[in-house]
Amino acid sequence: MTGQQHPRRYSGTALLPVAGLVLGFVAASFVQAGAHGAKHNPTRFRYLQKHGIPEVYKNLKSPVMTKADISKGATLFAENCASCHGATGEGDGEAGKDLNPKPPALRSMMDMMAMMRQEGHAMKGMKKMMGMMNNNPDGYLIWTVSEGGAAMNTAMPAFKDILSEKERWQVISYMLDGFKAKAGKN
Ligand code: HEC
Repeated sequence: MTGQQHPRRYSGTALLPVAGLVLGFVAASFVQAGAHGAKHNPTRFRYLQKHGIPEVYKNLKSPVMTKADISKGATLFAENCASCHGATGEGDGEAGKDLNPKPPALRSMMDMMAMMRQEGHAMKGMKKMMGMMNNNPDGYLIWTVSEGGAAMNTAMPAFKDILSEKERWQVISYMLDGFKAKAGKN
């Protein structure tokens, strides 16, 4: 077993398992299997399939986010989201326990989103989900955080009147960064 056995080959069949994983994401991000998180949350997915992302959000892109923005995002997440989604996005927040649908574990879902933002359609399995998101995961995220789940009858709050647009992008950047930054710096 030497390094020789792994030539750099990031195309074709080498990516198939990953693509499968991502296709799985279509269902999986909505079928979270976190220990305490929601097991099944197809509500938003169904809505997306049927209606797509609302016009005002579908082309929005995150502004460039600095380390300070991400850190601010951590604080905002702790203050506004952790109660339901858990301190590090595992879906295990106290306030989410009795909700139906439950707050999904955001962590794995955000990993996928981060990947899609970078790889785009380069990966076959992502095409369908990307298409549903208008090829713009940012639009999906800012829509979700801004409007919450009112249109689909879930407990996800709308943050458009609570957080400024910049703050919404900051919290999104914290999540896309893998929930790593520490809260506290403002
Ligand atoms: C009162 C509980 C509650 C709070 C607080 C809350 N959420 Fe949610 N969230 C939910 C629920 C329930 C869902 C699942 C239903 C839905 O997608 O509307 C959800 C879904 C989501 C999704 C979609 C995940 C997916 O599967 O596509 C994202 C992203 C999200 N929340 C981010 C946030 C962020 C960021 C905050 C804070 C700014 C936040 N939430 C605060 C309850 C909450």
